[in-house]
Amino acid sequence: MRIVVTGGAGFIGSNIVDAYIEAGHDVAVIDNLSSGKESNVHPKARLYKLDIRSPEVELVFAKEKPDVLNHHAAQIDVRKSVVDPAYDAQVNIVGMINLLQMCIKHEVRKVIFASSGGAIYGDPSVLPADENTPLDPLAPYGAAKVAGEYYLSCFSALYGLNYTALRYGNIYGPRQDPHGEAGVIAIFSQAMLKDHEVKIFGTGEQLRDYVFVGDVVRANVLSLEKGNNRRINIGTATGTSVNELFDRLKGITGYAKDAVYYPVRHGELERTYLANEKAKDELGWVPQVDIQQGLERTAEFFRQQPVKA
Ligand SMILES: NC(=O)c1ccc[n+]([C@@H]2O[C@H](COP(=O)([O-])OP(=O)(O)OC[C@H]3O[C@@H](n4cnc5c(N)ncnc54)[C@H](O)[C@@H]3O)[C@@H](O)[C@H]2O)c1
Repeated sequence: MRIVVTGGAGFIGSNIVDAYIEAGHDVAVIDNLSSGKESNVHPKARLYKLDIRSPEVELVFAKEKPDVLNHHAAQIDVRKSVVDPAYDAQVNIVGMINLLQMCIKHEVRKVIFASSGGAIYGDPSVLPADENTPLDPLAPYGAAKVAGEYYLSCFSALYGLNYTALRYGNIYGPRQDPHGEAGVIAIFSQAMLKDHEVKIFGTGEQLRDYVFVGDVVRANVLSLEKGNNRRINIGTATGTSVNELFDRLKGITGYAKDAVYYPVRHGELERTYLANEKAKDELGWVPQVDIQQGLERTAEFFRQQPVKA
């Protein structure tokens, strides 16, 4: 297949590009390198350094003639979306609409969209949260992801565009950006490896659904053929506390200090994790990497990185 991956220089997108190329697909990347890195992009993928909002995106669609658009480019910082919701919406809503219009004009068969099960359900009253949980985002970032899903279903109804919206838990692993939704793992790993102070905000008992990036990549490979016109959680159905992450990473890295606790941050969710039966039924997807293995692989990745002060 011919596939365009937006955000393919970023953490999750670049891991997906690697897997698509290994599976024999032809891949082009659109990324403005605002947080992504050129060095993350597979040498066999063609990189277009472009903003998804720019009219030049059309040239990429005309030249590449993709069968599938995999959309991972985004403003990913939840706190930034609170400070500047208009900017968040420009990238995450208007930028996405620009891409969807190109999909219709250039007859793209399918769109795979990185949505967020961690952000769109708010503080779910029933856990694990399944796909019927009311959509109740608590930050503009989540509101934009909800909008993205609705634009997809609307374009599907209007033009027959096929899509899969993958509602991710908190994704972690090699190449992880510390500003993303599972940034805590990158931050803890790097701090412990440098023997710096590790900060925990609040009690550390807040629960999140941490999913290893390799499992997320598999969901994106399966979605090339399956999950048509579905919104599907990609989670482990298990909540892990920040204190548990701290203890496991302490064991893995050999860090000797205790965590330092700070007041809870405004707007932080208490508990969320995602049911994954639909992923199993629709995609044949189940997570394969447990939290201990995933943390070991992530810490190993950061251990191999050049040391910065
Ligand atoms: N990391 C998580 O836990 C998580 C959870 C749920 C959803 N997601 C979603 O997955 C996607 C990828 O996230 P990530 O964690 O890999 O983040 P990332 O920052 O590593 O990747 C995002 C990429 O998009 C690029 N980008 C940003 N704005 C752009 C623009 N205007 N035009 C072109 N490129 C642009 C960045 O340079 C970067 O390479 C995002 O859509 C994010 O919202 C991530």
